[in-house]
Amino acid sequence: MKFFIDTAEISEIRELAETGLVDGITTNPSLIKQSGRDFIEVITEICGVISGPVSAEVIATDTAGMLSEGRRLAAIASNVTVKLPLTWDGLKACRTFADEGIATNVTLCFSANQALLAAKAGASFISPFIGRLDDLGVDGMELIHKIRTIYDNYGFETEILAASIRSSAHVEACALAGADVATIPPQVLKSLSRHTLTDKGLASFLTDWETTGQSI
Ligand code: G3P
Repeated sequence: MKFFIDTAEISEIRELAETGLVDGITTNPSLIKQSGRDFIEVITEICGVISGPVSAEVIATDTAGMLSEGRRLAAIASNVTVKLPLTWDGLKACRTFADEGIATNVTLCFSANQALLAAKAGASFISPFIGRLDDLGVDGMELIHKIRTIYDNYGFETEILAASIRSSAHVEACALAGADVATIPPQVLKSLSRHTLTDKGLASFLTDWETTGQSI
């Protein structure tokens, strides 16, 4: 499963890129607002740090506006993926970009039928929002399983990019469900390596080694 980082904070991106475990980045208008940065500038800087797909979302809600904005975003760097909302206008823009060879990430997906439409529109990625379904008491992970089944039934090449991830449990569940990508908030990614038994075991090894008086 590919790990994308869900942030526009360049300092977090640079820190995590050093692990060699970052396969891409997703941003959205709210994350850009949180960064306090100019949109074009921060996407340009991110593309200079990360060679994998970098999602940049259009703001226009009509197809013509999405196409104009999306082409401007795609021109920033070859690894920009144009993020489009899952609306009929977004799907029409997605179809056009697919025909033009521009990578797309269709976002704000909350149902299997929406994901089916995005795949038929030629989306490169589909972003089902797990956490926001959980917030409503709906099982967000069930959507990931449904999309996986539908896409495998028909051989759709659209990649399932699990989004709105809130915990390490979500990451594990996405891997078990066969999501192609998980876009993970930086703090959740950092938590994946932590386990109390690992900490205790390492401390015990170091204590025991100390008594040997040896060095390597
Ligand atoms: O990429 C989508 C993600 O940023 C949304 O997360 O926690 O606001 O639902 P959240």
